[in-house]
Amino acid sequence: MILTGAGQIGMAIARRMGYGMKIIVGDKSMDNAGSICDTINKAGFDALPFEMNLASRESILALIDEARKHGEVSMLVNAAGVSPSQASIETILKVDLYGTAVLLEEVGKVIQAGGTGVTISSQSGHRMPALTPEEDRLLATTPTEELLSLNLLQPQNIRDTLHAYQLAKRCNVKRVMAEAVRWGERGARINSISPGIIVTPLALDEFNGPRGDFYKNMFAQCPAGRPGTADEVAHVAELLMSNRGAFITGSDFLVDGGATASYFYGALKTENR
Ligand SMILES: NC(=O)c1ccc[n+]([C@@H]2O[C@H](COP(=O)([O-])OP(=O)(O)OC[C@H]3O[C@@H](n4cnc5c(N)ncnc54)[C@H](O)[C@@H]3O)[C@@H](O)[C@H]2O)c1
Repeated sequence: MILTGAGQIGMAIARRMGYGMKIIVGDKSMDNAGSICDTINKAGFDALPFEMNLASRESILALIDEARKHGEVSMLVNAAGVSPSQASIETILKVDLYGTAVLLEEVGKVIQAGGTGVTISSQSGHRMPALTPEEDRLLATTPTEELLSLNLLQPQNIRDTLHAYQLAKRCNVKRVMAEAVRWGERGARINSISPGIIVTPLALDEFNGPRGDFYKNMFAQCPAGRPGTADEVAHVAELLMSNRGAFITGSDFLVDGGATASYFYGALKTENR
């Protein structure tokens, strides 16, 4: 298994699906990667930390090479990312949008028959109004090295870091659809999960950031009335990555306590999206 992002969501999914296999845990922070490997190795897993940057193709290729030293790649969990309060517009687009696209492309070249993957998108992308069919097609199919030159991703067309994050997450969902076609040629499947507010260090940075009140209101007013946990995301990942999910590929799954529903048709609908 290749796991990118040694965070709470990535760890929860690795614990569901990574038993009996070598797990290569890639993260730009070796502290995070080391501490998650330490935690799960003490619980019977076999994980190795690996320093990498999702924003770099070279780094992604080095991670894949490392994984292949231990056997064929049969699972991918992409849970690396930066949030609107953690990074600049440029970094969000480089990591969350471009990096995810490159990772899906490169792992898609080597994934074993029967292999499965999930990438973590976000409910935030679902809050953003629809793009045009042409914009969707460009996000889905533009060659990875040309993605960041798309007109809709130029600075004058991006309001703020939240908008950049939403575009990146919309792009993740579209790339998954296009990649599912390629992965299918190898007998492999790829899906995305769009979580709502899940309590992790990334979400805590949002609670304490400039949009803190907005996020606290979001979980208080959503149908579930609370934030979610990484384990609740892992329940869905387990379905998607196991044989129970054999007929599911190229799909995205909202796990958001009903926040998106409320943004469209409930108490949250007057809020600025
Ligand atoms: N927590 C939430 O509320 C929430 C909601 C929706 C989507 N997400 C998405 O879930 C994913 C995982 O986030 P999390 O909440 O588990 O956060 P987390 O902070 O627990 O983990 C994120 C990890 O990604 C790593 N990372 C950041 N930039 C990187 C880079 N360039 N290269 C490699 N690693 C990098 C960080 O070092 C960190 O270990 C992200 O893509 C995030 O956008 C989270």
